[in-house]
Amino acid sequence: MIKKKVLVTGGAGFIGGNFVQYMVGKYPNYDIYNLDLLTYAGDLTKHKEIEQKENYHFLKMDIADREAIFTLFEKGKFDYVIHFAAESHVDRSITNPGVFVKTNVLGTQVLLEAAKQFEISKFVHVSTDEVYGELEFDPTTFFTEETPLQPNSPYSASKASSDLLVRAYYETFGLPINITRCSNNYGPFHFPEKLIPLTISRVLNEQKIPVYGDGKNIRDWLHVMDHCTAIDLVLHEGLVGEVYNVGGHNERTNLEVVKTIINTLGKSEELIEFVTDRLGHDKRYAIDPTKLENLGWKPTYTFETGIAQTIQWYLNNKEWWAQIISGEYQNYFQKQYSL
Ligand code: NAD
Ligand code: TYD
Repeated sequence: MIKKKVLVTGGAGFIGGNFVQYMVGKYPNYDIYNLDLLTYAGDLTKHKEIEQKENYHFLKMDIADREAIFTLFEKGKFDYVIHFAAESHVDRSITNPGVFVKTNVLGTQVLLEAAKQFEISKFVHVSTDEVYGELEFDPTTFFTEETPLQPNSPYSASKASSDLLVRAYYETFGLPINITRCSNNYGPFHFPEKLIPLTISRVLNEQKIPVYGDGKNIRDWLHVMDHCTAIDLVLHEGLVGEVYNVGGHNERTNLEVVKTIINTLGKSEELIEFVTDRLGHDKRYAIDPTKLENLGWKPTYTFETGIAQTIQWYLNNKEWWAQIISGEYQNYFQKQYSL
């Protein structure tokens, strides 16, 4: 079996965390290095099942710390880099955009430079469909890999900037890269500031659910495990230099999502509270995943099976999310919503 050294950045967060667990289980011959700064969004308790495994390693480090990253790459001799680490919440990018530029743009450039100097074999940059901007409510239009980048929030602008740097390192230096742009993820270990886990945790606590504007904005929901299999496929089979969109044709209005959760848990729709709309709130996201499907990817979850699994997971793992919403999160929530 071929041994590989795989550096996963942001592996203490939601998607990176699920990906690390997936890779540690699926590839016992790969050494998985989880590099994470452990910001408010990072948490290692999620890895208690794998932390004793021989092929799992943790490194607390800032991707924007050039010296530390270069020292690590020199010693590490990594084969692959899968780059998740980022500031990821749109609302936080509206109140505090600076750190998004530092982590998402500068941090990505530091990693690219190290990857180039130490000649890694594949750099997968995990991006988002939000770099394409927004779609109208016309259900026949979708983002393809050719859609021009027109980001609207400081978050998506910082992600688009990092995408362009990744592209430039391929075009200029021949760094072997792929970019994936996926739709909204959901599933286990999703931080409860994002719509789905926020709604589940608040419904379970019989608290009001803040819905921005009229609740008619549309997102295309992708179960995090389907995202993990997509990245695995792109890492091993993706054509160097190519961008792949990841999405599962699961478009729902925010109100539909919130009502599904309330009804599944048998609570009252009176918990819904319409609040002032998000600034620059993108109307609709929807992905055309044909290119990735042609590479061999197929999602296993529909929105119905995925949301049922996710709600059950939050019911079974109250300890994990209750500990998160009891801390600093309370101040954040108060400032963001005054609910
Ligand atoms: P997350 O916020 O849950 O996790 C981000 C992780 O990055 C955290 O563990 C955090 O500690 C770490 N981190 C932040 N700054 C760092 C730094 N300077 N150095 C090292 N580590 C740092 O995010 P997520 O939802 O898991 O998203 C992961 C990636 O996927 C991001 O790049 C995001 O843009 C992208 N993405 C997310 C979604 C989604 O729906 N959540 C959709 C599309 C794309
Ligand atoms: P979010 O989970 O923050 O993801 P993104 O902004 O990256 O799509 O939000 C998903 C949708 O839910 C988005 O249209 C904004 C809306 N939303 C609310 O209505 N209320 C909330 O409290 C949050 C966090 C989001």
